[in-house]
Amino acid sequence: MSFIEAQGVRFSYETEDAGKKEVLHGIDLKIEEGEFVALLGHNGCGKSTMAKLFNGMLLPSEGRILVDGIDTLDEQRQLDVRRRVGLVLQNPDNQLVAGVVEEDVAFGPENLGVPPLEIRKRVDEALKAVDMYHYRTHAPHKLSGGQKQRVAIAGVIAMETRCIVLDEPTAMLDPRGRAEVMDTIKKLNREKGITIVLITHYMDEAVQAGRVVVMDSGSILMDGGPREVFAQVERLKRHALDVPQATELCYRLKAAGIDLGGAPLSVEECLELFRSKLKTQ
Ligand SMILES: Nc1ncnc2c1ncn2[C@@H]1O[C@H](COP(=O)(O)OP(=O)(O)O)[C@@H](O)[C@H]1O
Ligand SMILES: [Mg+2]
Repeated sequence: MSFIEAQGVRFSYETEDAGKKEVLHGIDLKIEEGEFVALLGHNGCGKSTMAKLFNGMLLPSEGRILVDGIDTLDEQRQLDVRRRVGLVLQNPDNQLVAGVVEEDVAFGPENLGVPPLEIRKRVDEALKAVDMYHYRTHAPHKLSGGQKQRVAIAGVIAMETRCIVLDEPTAMLDPRGRAEVMDTIKKLNREKGITIVLITHYMDEAVQAGRVVVMDSGSILMDGGPREVFAQVERLKRHALDVPQATELCYRLKAAGIDLGGAPLSVEECLELFRSKLKTQ
């Protein structure tokens, strides 16, 4: 059984002026426990809607979402779904609610009905996991963007969900904050086996995932390993989607008559191709 399974999911928003607007047109997707999946696509293609469907914040208009076998449409089990899938949103300022870091982290588990002593333990552990334990009595609004987002992630860790969905968690951060958050996410996946769904528009983040799912206007366009997906440069470009910079460089060099013989995902891989090319000349 997959950890998350979307079966023929359609979703429509009710809008005042235009009535019902369908934004997901029949999504089939399986995510296995322990996977690290990057979800990509244009603005407005339905990524955030998917994220909210995964933890039951939104419910499918048609089809269904199973989380660990639980149908999110089952009203009796809404809390069970939230105990399994935690959601981290783009703007940490909208997620931090308390005046002190540790109170903030306690908020999620409190809502799940976790006993106070257990919460104390979880909060300390979660703050250590994101390397923010020293800041536990600080005021969240005085932290940097990356630190705030790590506190928001600690809040989800303290809920002990087996899956964390992060909706563009690095979009408002500077490069250092982005790196901090990516390191934290990778560590949770690698060391704790937590299933990660990372929505991002940074291709250098997507290449760090084990699997890349590309959406286009409410449907899934591509699904595969990062190497497999980003090798299809022309197809991605036709849909006005980006590829990693190193991939782009080699693609353009090839168009200019310099074929390095590969589609690298990183600067290091690109360098390696250059070196072997120079050696053979
Ligand atoms: N609350 C809402 N009411 C009506 N339409 C919405 C709402 N939220 C999102 N949409 C529309 O649904 C589509 C998908 O949005 P979203 O899931 O946020 O996409 P993404 O996260 O990929 O940018 C967009 O066309 C967006 O305008
Ligand atoms: Mg979004």
